[in-house]
Amino acid sequence: MTKKFTIKESTRKRCKIVQLTPEVQLLFRPVSLEHFSYLWEVPSIDFSLYIRVDSEMIEYLRPQEFSCELLEQIWMASLKEEAALDIFILKKEFPRFLHSLSAVRQKKIQNLIERDPSLDRKTLEAFSNLSEASQMILRGGITHAVAEHAKGSAAFMVKQLMDNELAMSTLSRMIQIDPTLYDHSASVSMFATIMAKQYINRKLPLKEAEMIAQCGLYHDTGKSCVPHSVLNKPGSFTTEEYEIMKSHVDHGHRELMEAITAGAPIDEIVAIVALEHHERFEGHGYPKGKKGRAEEDPANGIHVYARIVAIADAYSALLMKRVYKPALPAEKAIELLRLSAPRDFDLQIFEPFVKGVEGSLLKLEERKREMDKGRIFLSDSEVKIMDQIKAQEKGSQAGEMGKRPKAS
Ligand SMILES: [Fe+2]
Ligand SMILES: [Fe+2]
Repeated sequence: MTKKFTIKESTRKRCKIVQLTPEVQLLFRPVSLEHFSYLWEVPSIDFSLYIRVDSEMIEYLRPQEFSCELLEQIWMASLKEEAALDIFILKKEFPRFLHSLSAVRQKKIQNLIERDPSLDRKTLEAFSNLSEASQMILRGGITHAVAEHAKGSAAFMVKQLMDNELAMSTLSRMIQIDPTLYDHSASVSMFATIMAKQYINRKLPLKEAEMIAQCGLYHDTGKSCVPHSVLNKPGSFTTEEYEIMKSHVDHGHRELMEAITAGAPIDEIVAIVALEHHERFEGHGYPKGKKGRAEEDPANGIHVYARIVAIADAYSALLMKRVYKPALPAEKAIELLRLSAPRDFDLQIFEPFVKGVEGSLLKLEERKREMDKGRIFLSDSEVKIMDQIKAQEKGSQAGEMGKRPKAS
């Protein structure tokens, strides 16, 4: 039986509380736990954080009250399964929130490069940009402005990465160094774009590459309709929960089609991929049990972009740390994917993808070795960073870790 989460009397006295009507709800947008956790890294905020409990919206943390203690209270409360408590922010304050996130992300990228200078900075910057777009989609719905932003981020990434041999490995490795920086849809977008180049055409036209990047960004759009308690559930789903989870493909397709009809700059193929990315090559996926290639069987086959995104999606999910599983190193993720690949994926796409990841990891190792030998030319700022790292290695490591408690 589910316990009810009650609001303490002291909270009622301290905070402004509004009754949640459908009109009031429209003023807010939800904040993911991942992004909430970024706030441990900021010295102050210039927006309020709200928590929703049943039909009440509580202004729990105002800028003048910002403290780690209150952040921790929200964090702990939202992890309690019985709470069904979500974190919100006023829509009009969302740009300020994004600004804070972006500053933290830049700091994190800087830290990543300091910790492993062989990682590719361009990849990390394009990733950071995509990650912002992915969160806007997942947390804010698909407005015209969000779609424009997503389109721009996809185009920027394509421009930065199309000939970058280190993109795969940098992305595959970064999560081991800083799991909090990882963003599922952003990484699916990048992996899918690189894979498309390997499979469809090494000289993939820019427009096509940008569209595949958008397919990755939007593939899980429908997850905004799945409750937190199901999305973040540790352990296995009940049959009913699994059905709710599966429904994200239909929700996503519907939401995207509505946005397209309303004039958002998104191609219809993006909506098809949101619908088909859990279809499996031998027909055991959902929602329709499609099988094979749409190029060979237009009525029953799976769209080529969806077959690509399916592999990127599965690979990214394995790399990622979740409440129900640890993050896996790239080699282990590939090993696991290989087991189910012949049934799940189009091997004509999967095999070059695996070769691509392995080749890219080798390149990164090579770059590391060359850096150690001092054979790679470094810019002044990179030399400075290397010096700092060497100094750090000599000195104490104490006090290096952040102040944020871990989610699991
Ligand atoms: Fe999905
Ligand atoms: Fe996904």
